[in-house]
Amino acid sequence: MLRLEGISAGYGNIQALRDVSLEVARGRMVALVGPNGAGKSTLFKVISGVVPARAGRIFYEGQDLLALDPADRAGLGIAHVPEGRQVFRTMTIAENLEMGAYCVRGRAAKKRAVERAYEIFPALAQRQRQQAGTLSGGQQQMLAIGRALASMPRLLLLDEPSLGLSPIMADEMFEHIGRAHTVAGVTVLLVEQRVAESLESCDWGCVLDFGRITLQGPPQTLLRDERIRATYMGIAAVPQDDAA
Ligand SMILES: Nc1ncnc2c1ncn2[C@@H]1O[C@H](COP(=O)(O)OP(=O)(O)OP(=O)(O)O)[C@@H](O)[C@H]1O
Ligand SMILES: [Mg+2]
Repeated sequence: MLRLEGISAGYGNIQALRDVSLEVARGRMVALVGPNGAGKSTLFKVISGVVPARAGRIFYEGQDLLALDPADRAGLGIAHVPEGRQVFRTMTIAENLEMGAYCVRGRAAKKRAVERAYEIFPALAQRQRQQAGTLSGGQQQMLAIGRALASMPRLLLLDEPSLGLSPIMADEMFEHIGRAHTVAGVTVLLVEQRVAESLESCDWGCVLDFGRITLQGPPQTLLRDERIRATYMGIAAVPQDDAA
């Protein structure tokens, strides 16, 4: 469905992505993990068109994605939920979801798209007339994802959906995302700091470090990998020389 070939990108003299190649099959749920500043958000921005690629190619369902502007990419069913719960704060939940569905053609189809978001996030359905700015952090994140789902995407890019949530809320969020993946039949690329949890809920994992993909494979393999365990899961060997 999505194929990146030798993608490089950056900002001024900062090289954020170096020769990244990645293939995502339709229907997959892929976790993209890596330390702060690794280039994870930049990778999403290059796919959605917010940041231009400096080299390489991206094919989406066979089309040359880099030749299209961001609006046309959205029109092809690519929905990007950036970091930080970006909702229209002065609008209600219902209005936010309707905004998400603006590109869905036909009144009945728009209504179904909004209803599907409520089905995946029942907490939103109970508060349709509540102003988005008054929602809790977790609810705002649900709304941001719900709004993306209301556009009936085929590829959903989720950047750190559990950021700032309590462990319980984060687990709930992963469950919702898993449901969205199955109910909506959408292909998901998920950036996460919660490495173990996100790998467990996905069917493929990629590690990005200093702008390069350093490791990828099925989650079970990555979760057993010594480097992953030491670097991201705090299962490092206790330092021997701890006299200081
Ligand atoms: N708008 C920008 N201008 C300049 N440099 C930027 C900009 N956005 C990101 N960078 C730099 O590009 C590199 C990759 O950043 P990016 O946001 O993609 O990382 P990330 O993996 O998403 O990190 P985090 O886990 O902290 O969200 C970093 O060195 C960052 O400082
Ligand atoms: Mg980021």
